[in-house]
Amino acid sequence: MKRGAIFYFSGTGNTEMVVQLVKAALNTHDIQTKVYKIDDMSATLSSIQWDTYQYIGFAYPVHALNAPKLVLDFIDQLPEFGTNSNSKFVFTFRTAGDPFAQGGSTKLIRKRLSTKGLKVTQERLFIMPANVMMHFPPSLVKQLYLIAQQKAGDFALEISTQRTNLQKNSLSVTWFSAIFSTMESWGAKWVGKSYGVNKDCDLCGLCVRQCPTQNISISSEDKKVKFAKNCIICMRCIYVCPKRAIHSRGFRFFELKRGYDIRSTIRQLLGDPSIPADFLSSATKGFFKRYAKYAGLIPT
Ligand SMILES: Cc1cc2nc3c(=O)[nH]c(=O)nc-3n(C[C@H](O)[C@H](O)[C@H](O)COP(=O)(O)O)c2cc1C
Repeated sequence: MKRGAIFYFSGTGNTEMVVQLVKAALNTHDIQTKVYKIDDMSATLSSIQWDTYQYIGFAYPVHALNAPKLVLDFIDQLPEFGTNSNSKFVFTFRTAGDPFAQGGSTKLIRKRLSTKGLKVTQERLFIMPANVMMHFPPSLVKQLYLIAQQKAGDFALEISTQRTNLQKNSLSVTWFSAIFSTMESWGAKWVGKSYGVNKDCDLCGLCVRQCPTQNISISSEDKKVKFAKNCIICMRCIYVCPKRAIHSRGFRFFELKRGYDIRSTIRQLLGDPSIPADFLSSATKGFFKRYAKYAGLIPT
């Protein structure tokens, strides 16, 4: 039995679901895989037994055509692998809400990992329902999940046979990804500062506990929820709040009105045979045509 580790960040659950699919698929190829949540591990990183893993994966949601700052900062904290990395097979995968520009360039994350001596050999993009701006119809949500399950199987097979499969990144997309994500990381501080709670907040503290960057606190003096400048706009606080009391002033268009709970949505959709998983087809036109191409239903 070979051993693998996947380090991942997931703001609202999409990446976490795909991590579970990839882990299950790797297990079928005799690669026993342990998963580590990046946002829980600043204290435990030094205790990782890197030598025991022949396969190392990194997974993240696409934010502004790149990885969220938290993921980039995590890579910076990794040890230098040097020649120890030669025996390791390194892969990355990410989830995005739109196949536009393949979810952005992967050159930036590849380069970051290479500074630690980790050479990426396999990359994969998984399209999951967007967690911002637009609710996807149930038949598309179900279909995207089933496609992800199938693609996770293909991905795991390529990993297990140590095949090289890297995304082709054009110079223009790489530049665009770098500029767009730098702007997003900078703007995120102000978006986070623009968050506030309405009168429905009962100070349960769930947002404080769930925030991956410890950006939220409850003041002991005036018992008010405060948002600092470390937000990465992962949307977790907005969607986990049981009272839906957190909103952004000025960026409300970004939030999904009915909230976002991918785990229970998928559970419910998989258990309901009356909902077909047939939104995308070879005849799909318009906005969703690139999704049908991603699904392999229309040739690229
Ligand atoms: C701040 C932010 C930026 C995003 N940028 C992109 C993007 O550039 N391209 C894209 O396809 N999806 C984008 N998305 C959608 C997410 O990548 C997508 O829904 C992802 O699967 C969420 O994963 P998670 O639930 O693991 O956080 C963005 C989402 C957020 C919150």
